[in-house]
Amino acid sequence: MDWWKEGVFYQIYPRSFQDSNGDGIGDLKGITYRLDYLSWLGIDAIWLSPFFKSPMADFGYDISDYTDVDPIFGKLEDFDELLEEAHKRNIRVVIDQVYNHTSDKHPWFIESRSSRENPKADWYIWKDPKPDGSPPNNWVHFFSGEKAESAWEWDEKRRQYYLHLFAKEQPDLNWRNPEVRKAVFDSMRFWLERGVDGFRFDVASFYYKDPEFRDAVKRSQADNSRMIYAYYWDRFCARPETILAIEDIRKLLDSYGQKVGIGEAVSDRGQNVYLEFTLEGRLHLAFNFDFMKNVTFDAQKIRDLVESTDKLFDTRAWPCYVLGNHDYYRILTRLTEDMEAREGEKSLIAKLMAILLLTLRGTPFIYYGEEIGMEDMDVPYEKIVDPLGKNLWPKAKGRDVCRTPMQWDNSRYAGFSDVEPWLPINPNKLHVNVAREREDPNSVLNFYRSLLKIRKESLTLRMGSIEFLDSPINTLVYVRVKDSNKLAVILNFSGTKVALGIYFDGSIVLGSHRKSGEKISSEITLEPFESIIIDIS
Ligand code: GLC
Repeated sequence: MDWWKEGVFYQIYPRSFQDSNGDGIGDLKGITYRLDYLSWLGIDAIWLSPFFKSPMADFGYDISDYTDVDPIFGKLEDFDELLEEAHKRNIRVVIDQVYNHTSDKHPWFIESRSSRENPKADWYIWKDPKPDGSPPNNWVHFFSGEKAESAWEWDEKRRQYYLHLFAKEQPDLNWRNPEVRKAVFDSMRFWLERGVDGFRFDVASFYYKDPEFRDAVKRSQADNSRMIYAYYWDRFCARPETILAIEDIRKLLDSYGQKVGIGEAVSDRGQNVYLEFTLEGRLHLAFNFDFMKNVTFDAQKIRDLVESTDKLFDTRAWPCYVLGNHDYYRILTRLTEDMEAREGEKSLIAKLMAILLLTLRGTPFIYYGEEIGMEDMDVPYEKIVDPLGKNLWPKAKGRDVCRTPMQWDNSRYAGFSDVEPWLPINPNKLHVNVAREREDPNSVLNFYRSLLKIRKESLTLRMGSIEFLDSPINTLVYVRVKDSNKLAVILNFSGTKVALGIYFDGSIVLGSHRKSGEKISSEITLEPFESIIIDIS
């Protein structure tokens, strides 16, 4: 069994999950403390955003020591304990590897910038200025927002520019240097030896850049939502050398048994790049960001996306679906911010999304808090800490909004901490919280839990084929089939009643409005935002 195909992953942003030492920032011991909750919920694996040594210019995505834990998050022993405790509960642990760049405080970079003669001089991407003193080419960094700032930072000592595709505190490593590759692979070995179950590879599509560093051709504004205004350039996206490096990474993973490699294959060529990264001998999974960014109430669009993914991946690679992560707006906010949704309606929409995510053919990732219906919080300007958020303000909300602390209960700091947390708590913690929802049989949380249990027990939901049936506008109907077992998934994306016009004979497996076990043998009329799974075998 390929556990990474059949399991459900849960992303934890360590700063925001559980504080255990009263500094207002989540930590590893906090996560260990909450493992019983995750095991009760029924997930199979966690992916932890970075907890390594870091000056936190990008909250851990700027690493200054790949093989140690930042004191904010604890110690290496705390990680070992977390791993052991997770494994006891059959939860696998995937960690985040950021190899496109390091922190500018990483000893490698400090050496590299110290002189052009230093042994590590060539570990990063250094270039001379153009004759007029300007940067070597027109590339812009991804945090610059509409300012379109250069991705090159001048260094007075070396009298050269260094490349940073993200913040200037995140210099890009030079993957063409074999010593860099060796150092990166050694750091993977370090964690594999410690027993981690795999890695999520941060911006894995950007490792290698055009060797001639030619000017980029502006192809498109890859994400013209309010989130990221940066441009994607074909000069550094998914180059053939990167794919070869990915194949070497896979070989290393395989030499340690059943480990998983998950790619953040950012690109403006979407699906094709996700596929390219996950063909045989490459990574196991790559997040489907096309899906994440395009899930709206437009059922036809969702159908088109899923059908095209399924057709493209077919038997060649395994799809992977997400609705949110630490870089994007939370799904429930995206869907409801333009409507006057009442609480009851919001919880139906959250359930609808839960069924969608957990019944597709592909590995699902739940972003922490999604399972209780957490929403973005409008973080006031004085509290914005995200480097992208600062640059986007006031045009866009940045990424702090989706990184606020997990809402465990309705107490002052939501059970996350005893002191004021690093980001504010969403006031909706009063009803959107684990403690309340655990007690409420109709909560979003209990719906997720039932769904996860059903998925775990159903080979059809995990591995079966998927086929869509034509259905009225704003509805989605698909059937998952494995041998003689057939499950129909029916979703109403509209806020009105809809007569489905399709007859099903079977029994309810799970429904937002109907009791499990209830028989169905007539035409179905769907309630607003109703979602159902029916066994029609
Ligand atoms: C990835 C991460 C994001 C980070 C960036 C730079 O996109 O998900 O949070 O800022 O890479 O490391």
